[in-house]
Amino acid sequence: MTSQELRQKFIEFFEAKGHILVPSSSLLPKDDPSVLLTTAGMQQFKPYFVGLKDPQVELGGRQAISIQKCFRTADIDDVGDDTHLTFFEMLGNFSFGDYFKTEAIQFAWEFLTTVAGISASCLSATYYNGNRPGTTADIEAKLALDKLDGLNQVSAQPDAENFWGPTGTEGPCGPTVEFHVNGVEVWNLVFNEFYCHPDGKLSPLPVRGVDTGMGLERLSVAVNQLPNIFATDVFKPLMDKLGSLTPRAQRIVADHIRGAVFLLGDHVRPSNKEQGYILRRILRRVLMHIHGSGVRLEDLINTVIDLFGPVYLDLTQNRESINQFARTEADKFSRTIDAGEKELAKLIANGTPRLSGAEAFKLFASYGLPIDFIKEKIPVDESEFDRAFVEHQSISRAGVEKKFGGHGLSAGAAIDPAEQIQITKLHTATHLLHAALREVLGAEVHQAGSDINPERTRFDFNFPRKLIPDEIQRIEAWVNDKISTGFSVKHETLPYAQAIAAGAVAFFKEKYPAQVDVYTIYNEDTGKVISQELCGGPHVTNSHDLGTFRITKEESSSAGVRRIKAVLE
Ligand code: SER
Repeated sequence: MTSQELRQKFIEFFEAKGHILVPSSSLLPKDDPSVLLTTAGMQQFKPYFVGLKDPQVELGGRQAISIQKCFRTADIDDVGDDTHLTFFEMLGNFSFGDYFKTEAIQFAWEFLTTVAGISASCLSATYYNGNRPGTTADIEAKLALDKLDGLNQVSAQPDAENFWGPTGTEGPCGPTVEFHVNGVEVWNLVFNEFYCHPDGKLSPLPVRGVDTGMGLERLSVAVNQLPNIFATDVFKPLMDKLGSLTPRAQRIVADHIRGAVFLLGDHVRPSNKEQGYILRRILRRVLMHIHGSGVRLEDLINTVIDLFGPVYLDLTQNRESINQFARTEADKFSRTIDAGEKELAKLIANGTPRLSGAEAFKLFASYGLPIDFIKEKIPVDESEFDRAFVEHQSISRAGVEKKFGGHGLSAGAAIDPAEQIQITKLHTATHLLHAALREVLGAEVHQAGSDINPERTRFDFNFPRKLIPDEIQRIEAWVNDKISTGFSVKHETLPYAQAIAAGAVAFFKEKYPAQVDVYTIYNEDTGKVISQELCGGPHVTNSHDLGTFRITKEESSSAGVRRIKAVLE
């Protein structure tokens, strides 16, 4: 059965039972600040579940279905296996104070075994065991499951498996029944009975409801007895274009390009913030994997639009802008990669037969050059590279700030090359900011703390009052001037005493090791030093490719300490 037949049969089945078809909402949730992107079909129906709006008035009934575009960043690291995706289509039926558990379970069973033709012997189900305080085991669901003829296995599971929601910090939630085909979860039936408050407490919902979600791609695997989601017809034409990549890269590219096209179609634009950053990240991963492979970005984008345009009409309408924004991002990215390739070419031209792990890691950390890419050009001491990578990650997690007086990184932030580039740039920008503060506000200003994630730098410093707009402007202008002039960044490992004697800025309350890392930002022609700090890095090698520095917030952090948040655009 094709995916279009499955969509159609799902709609017909539930329409025949009185459900109203509601179009997919945008991937950018409207009026729901709890999440960055739409992750579930129920999001657009939240007001009906909590009684804020009447579905009878708005929709003309209390039963609905949708085929919802969903994007789950939480699953990004699992993409590449047989069952996980970031972007997927979710088939769902909903009841707002109409039918409840028994009917919902019967509908699902009937659809799976008769319409989809899945053999009962492949099907198993789980229900909620009631382990969470204030709840009980879902006996009503169990009784309904026990009545299903031929269901292979039924088991009770704790809330980690069989209790869903809320999205974000509060909202409707409840126990679930999951149907599995050959061990893979295919359909999740949520029985919204509770409202979860921000403190985790549950209170009963005035109206009980049903919210179900079934991944179209997993359903297609089950119906057509395929080995994995990438073998389904929603992926096949894409996979056919990716034969020159490794099997895992094929899957990552196929998943991410679909996600990127749908995000662009819903008017998300690449940026360093929020949804735009998610888009940038997956798009850059695609670009990295196809770099030098002969696969063309445009070709992938148009394949996705051709595949899904007949179902999601606005993709076709937006074909031009989708391509245009993706191309701009690709051009930006290739400039970074080009800079990295130039550095690599220099190292090779020096006659080195082999790159040290540290050299390879620097190319990775500063330019985002993937290790596989480097290895194609020159042998690399990989075990040393791995050590540098792991060490960097563990330093990042522990917070460089605590150990060496540098800037802490948010946990886990150092893995993705696109993120790594942004973090590296923000590190250097933070040193410039520190220098600018001393320049504009006085040399007694010093760092009191710092935290960097791929989106922004946060910098705390001692200062007795709020900054005035003119000061903020002068600080930004100073940093941007240094960025556009292009100052070199030098890294040295020096004995601690020597570094301090040379005037490097350090946290005097910290304990430093005997040998310290010192980063100096200076003018290559005149030798003029504008910043010298003890820091765990990493940094760019020249300030010219940092972008535009902008202060987004200035506020009090604690008594006598101010806090600045800033971004690179
Ligand atoms: N909200 C549930 C889920 O996303 C069922 O639709 O799995």
